[in-house]
Amino acid sequence: MQINYDFLDNYTFKNKNMTLRNRVVMAPTTLRASLEDGSVTDNELKYYQMRAQGPAMIITETAYVNESGRGWEGGISAANDDKIPGLRRLASTIQSGGAKAILQIFAAGRQTTTAILRGDQPVSASNKPYPREESETPRALTHAEIVQTIDDFAQATKRAILAGFDGVEIHGANLYLIQQFFSPDSNQRHDIWGGTVEKRSRFGLAVVAKVAQIIEKYAEKPFLLGYRQSPEEPMDPGITLSESIDFAKKIVTLPVDYLHLSLKDGFQTPFANKVDQKRVIDYYRAALPVDYPLMVAGLLKQPKQVEEIMDAGVTLAALGRELIVEPNWVQKVAGHDLNAIRYAISPSDFELLGIPKPLEEWLLTRFRNGLPITTDLGFDPKQPWRYYKEVVTQMPKPIDPTKLMTLKKRS
Ligand SMILES: Cc1cc2nc3c(=O)[nH]c(=O)nc-3n(C[C@H](O)[C@H](O)[C@H](O)COP(=O)(O)O)c2cc1C
Repeated sequence: MQINYDFLDNYTFKNKNMTLRNRVVMAPTTLRASLEDGSVTDNELKYYQMRAQGPAMIITETAYVNESGRGWEGGISAANDDKIPGLRRLASTIQSGGAKAILQIFAAGRQTTTAILRGDQPVSASNKPYPREESETPRALTHAEIVQTIDDFAQATKRAILAGFDGVEIHGANLYLIQQFFSPDSNQRHDIWGGTVEKRSRFGLAVVAKVAQIIEKYAEKPFLLGYRQSPEEPMDPGITLSESIDFAKKIVTLPVDYLHLSLKDGFQTPFANKVDQKRVIDYYRAALPVDYPLMVAGLLKQPKQVEEIMDAGVTLAALGRELIVEPNWVQKVAGHDLNAIRYAISPSDFELLGIPKPLEEWLLTRFRNGLPITTDLGFDPKQPWRYYKEVVTQMPKPIDPTKLMTLKKRS
């Protein structure tokens, strides 16, 4: 039986007069394949080029807006004007496949290390480390630095406009700097940037307002502004679903074109309240204006799951790991070739799928759950370290910060 999925219908952002060819979005996926200074590489372009023909919109891996915002080696930069030519190649590679190109922008905050910052201490809302043994203690940003960081988001947006992107997405999710300001765990300030939930919200809202201003001033063609949010976090005290929804209600009063929820599972119920059986997306749909564009990511793999989430009132479905594994997902659904969709990855296919080595390493370790890997090429799930060792020992060793500090002093 051939099913004509509604998510293949197009969608128009009415305020921006921009039409998407379907409702499928490629979720932001860090490849860790940029040059050391954050410049775009051909490996990255190849990866995006292979995936640009199907989804209506590709949200790039997150780009840091200033040097203290770097989160890992191989991250992509939007922190300087010299990055514009590379960003332009990235935008046009995505657009050449017919997808809209959205640059995701962020600052890592305390989710980084002195080594990655080449000797500088990580920064955050306060000086509280992430509750994990190996986390470093960050330095609290001063008021002037906060104001500067807000402007850094705006300047990164201007670069995205000049590079020809179709929009930016502000990364307010996944425990990075914007979320660190919102969270009572990481934000223990007592000035205008912390204390009450209104004050903890101020940084994120200020970033949105400033970015919106820049778009208004510089964009000469329709240019989207999206906001990504994690509704809850594992810490106690941490952000709560009701605070996040209140924040989202404020976001939608600003010129933000869509709200993007970063969920583990698109259909999840609140994890802080195990007895509550109402799904997070249902809370959001009820709280947001009817028809306000809501995007959701989280374990969406099969066409029927995507259709089901649309039926629940979600406007756009963002696929992360599934589009790593299956670059032609949309084309296969549109061509009624469902049996040909791959849901697992073979170690022998990493190269074929254009997956850069550092992403391959992440997929085999940090993101191993939720990504089925087949067992060919001697990959034995009972002894995963055999394959892991082979790949990981080829990775560059992290830089020793003490050596860097010596180098800095000498220069
Ligand atoms: C390798 C990898 C890199 C990711 N990088 C980013 C990123 O740069 N920005 C972001 O907001 N989310 C990032 N995510 C999260 C995804 O966008 C998505 O929310 C998550 O993978 C859940 O969706 P999925 O189950 O469809 O993969 C990343 C996920 C993976 C697997």
